Amino acid sequence: MDKRETFYITTPIYYPSDNLHIGHTYCTVMADAMARFKRLAGYDVMFLTGTDEHGQKIQKLAEARGQKPKEYVDAIVEGILELWETMEISYDDFIRTTEPRHEKRVQEIFLKMHEKGDIYKSEYVGWYCTPCESFWTENQLAEGLCPDCGRAVEKTKEEAYFFRLSNYADRLVELFKTTDFLQPESRVNEMLAFIDQGLEDLCISRSSFDWGIPVPLDEKHVIYVWLDALSNYVTALGFPELPGESMEKYERYWPCNVHLVGKEIVRFHSIIWPAMLMSIDAPLPKHVLGHGWILLEGGKMSKSRGNIVDPVKLIERYGVDALKYFLLREYTFGQDGLFTNEVMLNRFNSDLANDLGNLLSRTTAMIDKYNGGIVPPAGVAEGPDRELRDLAVGCGEKIAAHMEHFRFNHALEEIWTLIRRTNKYIDETAPWVLDKEESSKERLHTVLHNLAESLRIVSILIYPFMHTTAEEIRVQLGLGEDEPEWADAATFDLMGGQAVRRGDPIFPRLDIEEEIAALEAMGGAGGAPKEDLPPDIPYKEAIDFEDFAKLDLRTGVIVSAEKHPNADKLLVFQVRMGRETRQIISGVADSYKPEDCVGQEVIVVANLKPRKFRGLESNGMLLFANDRDKYTFAFTKARDGEVVS
Ligand code: ME8
Ligand code: MG
Repeated sequence: MDKRETFYITTPIYYPSDNLHIGHTYCTVMADAMARFKRLAGYDVMFLTGTDEHGQKIQKLAEARGQKPKEYVDAIVEGILELWETMEISYDDFIRTTEPRHEKRVQEIFLKMHEKGDIYKSEYVGWYCTPCESFWTENQLAEGLCPDCGRAVEKTKEEAYFFRLSNYADRLVELFKTTDFLQPESRVNEMLAFIDQGLEDLCISRSSFDWGIPVPLDEKHVIYVWLDALSNYVTALGFPELPGESMEKYERYWPCNVHLVGKEIVRFHSIIWPAMLMSIDAPLPKHVLGHGWILLEGGKMSKSRGNIVDPVKLIERYGVDALKYFLLREYTFGQDGLFTNEVMLNRFNSDLANDLGNLLSRTTAMIDKYNGGIVPPAGVAEGPDRELRDLAVGCGEKIAAHMEHFRFNHALEEIWTLIRRTNKYIDETAPWVLDKEESSKERLHTVLHNLAESLRIVSILIYPFMHTTAEEIRVQLGLGEDEPEWADAATFDLMGGQAVRRGDPIFPRLDIEEEIAALEAMGGAGGAPKEDLPPDIPYKEAIDFEDFAKLDLRTGVIVSAEKHPNADKLLVFQVRMGRETRQIISGVADSYKPEDCVGQEVIVVANLKPRKFRGLESNGMLLFANDRDKYTFAFTKARDGEVVS
């Protein structure tokens, strides 16, 4: 019997609605680093990820492409699996909600909740946000839009099953107030405020479309996609029990240690999910951790600014470990952070090329040159030796403390403090001077030994975060390819006699200007290369300020958009401005798909005289910037902070 302590960590199961972007990668890289760290620390780890494949959003997207939903998701899931393989994400299981092992068990969960008396049939009348797959009451809407993502909602009225969520309000409040179930703390108050508004029963079935798991005993309905999705965390472990199938994993790993999720889905994980588990009398997960968003300037991705956010492209150019390092080092857990090419490239150069890359090449070069490529044994400690050793052997403990709180950035900063200290140690001890005199040869050997030791410790400490680099360092130090032992990072003086093998620089220095230009030329994730774009458009004649001041500019929100029935290039927008909703027509059908415009904030020229376009009246005008061959909304406030790819 395996006596090790267990550690079960999950990521959200992502919607295979489109290829994943850097935001999904960020969450998965954090979970992977944590899983690897715990494994190295001796835990029996279960790391689960997967895909959330049912629901109205997926069905609509598939229909728009004339595909069956399963066909549509299969292609995207294949790309997701490839991405995780390239990134060497060390998940132990990948669950797809279209797998029978999941579908059958979700039906079982539904039945258990029903048996408990927690499910009843009624009619749902209210609003639905398809991108979030979320139900809202009239009161909860924010100016008529989804309060979570700011996009348009649909009026929905259909026969449905309901879960008596309201029964669990008191127990949920108790959970938030008396435990550290939900972190960071700031989310707790949000959730308490949400419950305080009055927790209504939750609609848990849909009958107006069919892409979902059928409700047992009433196959006109499919189970609400969030009930389906949240269940994955136990169905993957074999719960509820099915005849002839093992529940060993459930018994071993449940309750989960950490559900790692983005802040926009904390509500589902900390209210609906625990209430479901309470209903079926299963233990609750220990923690739900909400992480922040990666944002782009202006809140969303901009191809014209050349921000590459397709992880595949970044990996092809800079390697998996550089991307992992950047994501873990740059952002503070729980907070939003900005992504720019420049910030990323500067990190690569300063931390990876200068600090770590240089330390390795200087160390191996000097061992080569001054000791025939052999790591000398330990010698007598003097000068700065003690300080270096203490720093090195104490680093692992500091990292472990940071990892308890998912402070990946602080953990890495500890390692880089050691790396920088070791580089400084080279300058202080000046081995090239020691080499000149026979009398200082012994001291030279001690210094070389200490350098190799420090790097050996670094190679263990970075292992959970960038294991390929760790392995490369170990090979160059002559340590072989075996997985290191975490405990060996707490001891100095283990080396002596290894033959170093110098290699190419592990992180070559980048020319930042050149790289920014190259990334911009790629035109963003999947965008056209710059050469394909027509030359910039000449400016129109200058106007006086008085002319400009005649314009009455207002902000508005696009509440619906469709193609003009009689003109290919025109889109017909309904734009809400305060209490008024106006119809405005713009010739931007080549630049925007109607469905991508809904929820967009815009600037309206409110005092332009009404005009007809092919039979439809346009009352005002939307401002667009004319950017080469594309029109861009002049006012692009972040809609939900997600990277929209
Ligand atoms: O919500 N920055 O799936 P999803 C940081 N299927 N993280 C981001 C991000 C960004 N800009 N964009 C996305 C769903 N994420 C449901 C989950 S779980 C039972 C069901 C990450 O494809 C973040 O972790 O919309 C976020 O919570 C998740 O991707 C949402 O992925
Ligand atoms: Mg989302």
